[in-house]
Amino acid sequence: MRVQVVIVGSGPAGLLLGQLLARAGIETLILERQSRDYVLGRIRAGVIEPGAVGLLEAAGAADRLHREGLVHEGTEIAFQGQRHRIDFKALTGKVVTVYGQTEITHDLMDARDAIGAKTVYEAADVSLHDLTGDAPIVRYRKDGVAHEVSCDYVAGCDGFHGVSRRSIPKDLIRTYERVYPFGWLGVLVDQPPLSHELVYVNHERGFALCSMRSATRSRYYLQCRLEEHVEEWPDDRFYQELTRRLDAEGARNLHPGPSIEKSIAPLRSFVAEPMRHGNLFLAGDSAHIVPPTGAKGLNLAASDVAYLSAALIERYRENSAEGLDGYAAKALARVWKAERFSWQMTTMLHQFPESSGFDRKMQAAELDYLFSSKAAQTALAENYVGLPY
Ligand code: FAD
Ligand code: PHB
Repeated sequence: MRVQVVIVGSGPAGLLLGQLLARAGIETLILERQSRDYVLGRIRAGVIEPGAVGLLEAAGAADRLHREGLVHEGTEIAFQGQRHRIDFKALTGKVVTVYGQTEITHDLMDARDAIGAKTVYEAADVSLHDLTGDAPIVRYRKDGVAHEVSCDYVAGCDGFHGVSRRSIPKDLIRTYERVYPFGWLGVLVDQPPLSHELVYVNHERGFALCSMRSATRSRYYLQCRLEEHVEEWPDDRFYQELTRRLDAEGARNLHPGPSIEKSIAPLRSFVAEPMRHGNLFLAGDSAHIVPPTGAKGLNLAASDVAYLSAALIERYRENSAEGLDGYAAKALARVWKAERFSWQMTTMLHQFPESSGFDRKMQAAELDYLFSSKAAQTALAENYVGLPY
C-alpha cells in the first residue's frame, strides 16, 4: 500500500492534521494503537484557545463546538480566601471556549468518516523505517496480519509514549525535562459547576481547580501526592478536601455528586528537539508535554498541526520544501513559550514539598502583584488565550 502521509496516532493532533490535509486533497492513513472507544473514553483537556477553534473550523469540525461549547471571557484565582478575576476579554479582546477533548476527538472522527479517509484502529507494533530516505516505510500488525505502507512523510502524532520520538536515533535528539513532585487527582461529575468560570485555587493544603464540561457537568482537580491511588479517594473524601481548599462562596456553591470518572495524572514539562528527523515530523505530545495548569497541552498540539499542515500543503501544491525545513524551529519557538507559561502557572499555584519560607513568600508576592497589576494580568491573559501562531 502507498499513501502520501502516514499519521501515527488518532489523538487531537493526528485527527486534526488528517482533516486539514484531506481537505487540501492530500491522502493520509492514520494508524492508532487503541480502539476507537478507548480513545473516546479518555477524559483530558477542556479549554480551547481561539486559534485552535479556528483550526477546527478550517477542518470542518467546529459546528457542535459552536453550539455546545461555553465561551469564557475570564477566569478566577482564589488565594487566602479571596477570589480575583482575570478578564481575558477586557485585557486581550479574546475569549476561550470550554469544550472537552473527548468531544473534539469525536467531532474529528465523524468528519474523517464523512470524507471516507482511512483510520486503522488497534494497529499493533507500528514501526518506522527509512525515515531519512525518499520513501519511508511504516509497518504494523492488524488482527495478527503484517502490513507495510510506503509514503512520502510520516507525522508522529502518537503522544508521549508513542513510537515516533523513539524512532529518532538518540544522538540526534535532545530532551529537556522537569518532573513535578505532585499529581492532579481529577473527578468528573454530572452536577452544575460552582461558578460560571473556572476557579484556580492556591491553598496551603494544595492546589485545586474547579472546571467544567457543560452547564450540568463539572470537572474538579486536587493536587495530590504522586504515591496516592484513586482508591484512597472515595467521593466523600474528595469533596471534603475540595471544600477545605475553596473560598467560602465556592464551598457553598459546590454541588457534590457521584463521580463518573476519577484518575490521577502526574505533572511534567518535557521538550524534545528537533521535532524532525528526515521525513518524520513530530507534532503534539510526542514532542512535548506541559503540566496542565495553563491548559496548553491540546492547544499546543493544534498549533504544531497548523504549522505542519501548512508546510505539507505547500510541499504538494508548490513543490517547495521551505515550510517543512522551517517547521521544527517555528513550532519550537511557540512550544517553549507555552512551556514557560505552564511552568510559571504551576509554580505560582501549587504547594511544593521542598519549598522554604522564602519560596512561599515569593509565591504570595507574585500573586499579590498579579491581583494588583493590570500589566501582570495582561501577560497572564495573553498567554492563557494563546500566543499568535
Ligand atoms: P494524544 O492525545 O496522547 O494522542 C496520541 C495518540 O497516539 C493516542 O490515541 C495513542 O493511543 C496513540 N498512540 C500511542 N502510541 C502509539 C503507537 N505506538 N502506535 C499507534 N498509535 C499510538 N491537557 C490540558 O490542556 N488539560 C488537561 O486537563 C489535560 N489532562 C490530561 C490528562 C492526561 C492523563 C494526559 C495524558 C494528558 C492530559 N492533557 C491535558 C494533555 C492533552 O490531553 C494532550 O496535550 C493532548 O491530548 C495532545 O494530543 P496528541 O494528539 O498530541 O496526543
Ligand atoms: C479541564 O477542564 O480539564 C482543565 C481546565 C483547565 C486547566 C486544566 C484542565 O488548566
